[in-house]
Amino acid sequence: DMGGHDTFMHKEISEQPDAVDRVLRGRIDDRFSTVHLGGLNLDPREARTIRRIKILGCGTSYHAGLIGAGLIESMARIPADAEPASEFRYRNPVVDPDTLYIAVSQSGETYDVLAAVQELKRKGARVLGVVNVVGSAIAREADGGVYVHAGPEVCVVSTKCFTNTVVAFALLALHLGRIRDLSVTDGKRIIEGLRRLPEQISEILKLEDEIKELAAEYAGAQSMMFIGRVRGYPVALEASLKLKEISYIHAEAYPASELKHGPLALIEPALPTVAIVPDDDLLEKNRAALEEIKARSGRILAVAHQEQEKADHTIVVPKNEDELDPILMGIPLQLFAYHTALAMGRDIDKPRNLAKSVTVE
Ligand code: M6R
Repeated sequence: DMGGHDTFMHKEISEQPDAVDRVLRGRIDDRFSTVHLGGLNLDPREARTIRRIKILGCGTSYHAGLIGAGLIESMARIPADAEPASEFRYRNPVVDPDTLYIAVSQSGETYDVLAAVQELKRKGARVLGVVNVVGSAIAREADGGVYVHAGPEVCVVSTKCFTNTVVAFALLALHLGRIRDLSVTDGKRIIEGLRRLPEQISEILKLEDEIKELAAEYAGAQSMMFIGRVRGYPVALEASLKLKEISYIHAEAYPASELKHGPLALIEPALPTVAIVPDDDLLEKNRAALEEIKARSGRILAVAHQEQEKADHTIVVPKNEDELDPILMGIPLQLFAYHTALAMGRDIDKPRNLAKSVTVE
């Protein structure tokens, strides 16, 4: 049942304020400025001995894991990174007892992720799951984890599960941070930011008409470039994947800082750039990248917290805490991909060549 929407994708994008509310519900502990994660199975003493975190997933879940690694590193100060599960599995990785492994999967059934979890467990590693489907194979194999509570996602392309997975990582990062060196004040600051998310997502969803008009302008593009830096880079990766999956427009994502090391050669009026430009310590650096693109007559669509002078158009989104901004900045670009694909007459919920869950290698 699409509940009055034309597609499941549109329904699922619209459900995000409620979905985020659900992943937060009952988990926040204001007394200690932390969160409780019932199924984690990791006592504080063990949590203090973790020396590294390795996050494994595929596709959109891998992108959520990249943002998650950044959240963990900044809040808990534990070195963390994410890798596609399929690649990890085939490079005979060093499995180290002080590393905590986290498998991310909406369906909990993705074969490459499941196989990585099984291999890790066979080697004695501790593996947690960040999973949407309760009781799924990965949830059952893992030693514990966090359910993302996004509710059923029918559209082949992931939207609300991505958002909720990133919020679940923010909860995990806050939890680990408060066991280690994150201050009460910072804990409070993050909690207040988390509580603002549902309302701010609703505000972003109101920009749909503006985004729809923009999408009509970009719908004929042969290719598009997505750029961001540090926290903004995985947002660019995910937005570019979304556009590819449903519109079949070729898209690439690059850290903005890498442009001059190669991809700047592609910039010309026919190759538009979508830039993630948060109001954080990298704002001036991001603006410099926009200038480089403008100097080559590239068209720019910015997602930012304030109008960007060098951009042809800026989608202005509400500001949250720096750490949580990536959660919000991806949302207008879900709508952008959606309306671009719609303008091109694509089958939004069932893009060609793709399946909802990839249970083969
Ligand atoms: O169920 P999973 O999260 O494990 O799925 C992983 C990917 O197959 C999935 O995210 C895929 O990239 C989607 N089509 C993204 O929109």
